[in-house]
Amino acid sequence: MCRHQFIVGLIVSARFAYGLNFHSFGNEFEYLAKELNESSVMSDSAEIKASWLEQPLNHFDTQDNRTWMMRYFERHDLWKPDKPVYLFLGGEGPASPVFLKTGIMYDLAQETSGALFIAEHRYYGKSKPFEDLTADNLKFLSSRQALADFARLLTTIKSKFANSKIVVVGGSYSGNLAAWMELIYPNLVDAAIASSAPVLAKLDFYEYLETVSENFELHGPVGCWDMIATTFTNYEKAFESNESIIALKKQENICDSCDMTKPQNKQLFFLEKASAFMYRSQYGNPRNIKEFCDSNFTSNFRQMDESSLLWNGKSECYSYDFDDMINIVKQIDWYTAWIYQTCTEFSYFQTSSSDKQPFTKNIPIELYYTMCTKLFGPDFDETRVNTGVRDSNILYGGLKPNVTNVVFVNGDMDPWSKLGILEDLSYKAPAKMISRASHCRDLFSDRDDDPEELKQARIYIKYLIKSWIGEGEYRRP
Ligand SMILES: *[C@@H]1O[C@H](CO)[C@@H](O)[C@H](O)[C@H]1NC(C)=O
Ligand SMILES: *[C@@H]1O[C@H](CO)[C@@H](O)[C@H](O)[C@H]1NC(C)=O
Ligand SMILES: *[C@@H]1O[C@H](CO)[C@@H](O)[C@H](O)[C@H]1NC(C)=O
Ligand SMILES: *[C@@H]1O[C@H](CO)[C@@H](O)[C@H](O)[C@H]1NC(C)=O
Repeated sequence: MCRHQFIVGLIVSARFAYGLNFHSFGNEFEYLAKELNESSVMSDSAEIKASWLEQPLNHFDTQDNRTWMMRYFERHDLWKPDKPVYLFLGGEGPASPVFLKTGIMYDLAQETSGALFIAEHRYYGKSKPFEDLTADNLKFLSSRQALADFARLLTTIKSKFANSKIVVVGGSYSGNLAAWMELIYPNLVDAAIASSAPVLAKLDFYEYLETVSENFELHGPVGCWDMIATTFTNYEKAFESNESIIALKKQENICDSCDMTKPQNKQLFFLEKASAFMYRSQYGNPRNIKEFCDSNFTSNFRQMDESSLLWNGKSECYSYDFDDMINIVKQIDWYTAWIYQTCTEFSYFQTSSSDKQPFTKNIPIELYYTMCTKLFGPDFDETRVNTGVRDSNILYGGLKPNVTNVVFVNGDMDPWSKLGILEDLSYKAPAKMISRASHCRDLFSDRDDDPEELKQARIYIKYLIKSWIGEGEYRRP
């Protein structure tokens, strides 16, 4: 549980993974797979092939002839000649074929006799140009390079599906990529779904915790918000003297060896504690929030489990040691890779700098800057992060990307929606805000307990896509 809270807290993004105990966490699709394993969907025995495409290491330097192998999955049994091709863009995790068996893209393919593809993002899963993720090797990890990879794959696909319209789909970071594919390679893309896409890169993403705060205020029981504020204020007080730190360590089962007087360790503690609330905003619903904040608040909130990244199994305690955390991150490839992207392109650093939240002010942006320099070296400092954010917004247009045939979907409970497009850019670039929905929920297929508003949103999204690719005569069965 906590492991994922931690991830949500530190980087969030497309962390569908949170809240479940499985081994290769960090894989948004695997979370889906787990959830869907329980339904009949996964009994679909369609043949799904893993394929490989040789890609240049650097699309923007013709002198560099190094290459690597990109993985993708494909499914053709639903396809009829000249019918559409759907490509799900992988994000910051291994690609898995789940979305070839269920989800809005699969539903669209069924309804329009489409072929289905999922492409893995460079540096994630099995699509690794390098085994060793040193800063030097990570130089070729960027959204711009990933888009060029996807463009090359689409060119290959188009050579076989010459008369097919192309639809790209993505969620969270890969939702950005879906919109940006249309922006940078308009000739390769006919329509796109950008789900919960934080298209605006932002240095200090303080709005994240503000949204968490709003959700607990709005959906929590009376007194919930005050209870959170009191709990965090008490934590803060606990750091005021060495005696109370000792008491806190006992109460929270923090390892003796972990020096909680170090500012970064303290900050990590607050981040971890806030993550429980962040997760419930990002992936939850009003009911989860209400239940979490009920009379059992303290025990709900303190409940930790041993799958946490911060759990020290040998000593049976939690370590909030920042340097230990950095070493753990270094051992997890996708995690290192994604943090590299935040340090060099998007930041998205979730801080407590806003006054409009109950989590105190103990999660400063400096914590993240330190993370960047400790992981990748002194060059990856505040200036570097700043430059990366500025360049991304110039390249992609921030909240005003110049795109057509892209639908931007967000859930109003999702803190990421604060960096997304919430109002129509134009008739051909509409926004859809789904009330009481969380992160990327529209990418799933309908479930019985989904709110009507979410089901209606999916119908609308499918209608838009079909109308943009000339499949308008198809209606939902
Ligand atoms: C790649 O480029 C290097 C020089 O930049 C050259 O020596 C080498 O033969 C090239 N390899 C291939 C396969 O073209
Ligand atoms: C608290 O402990 C730290 C080291 O853990 C020490 O440097 C500091 O002097 C102590 N402060 C007080 C007030 O005892
Ligand atoms: C609080 O927790 C206890 C024991 O875990 C449980 O029996 C009880 O139903 C919980 N109360 C609520 C309101 O969920
Ligand atoms: C937007 O893109 C279109 C072509 O796709 C181009 O003609 C137009 O000038 C662009 N607008 C801006 C503001 O860049």
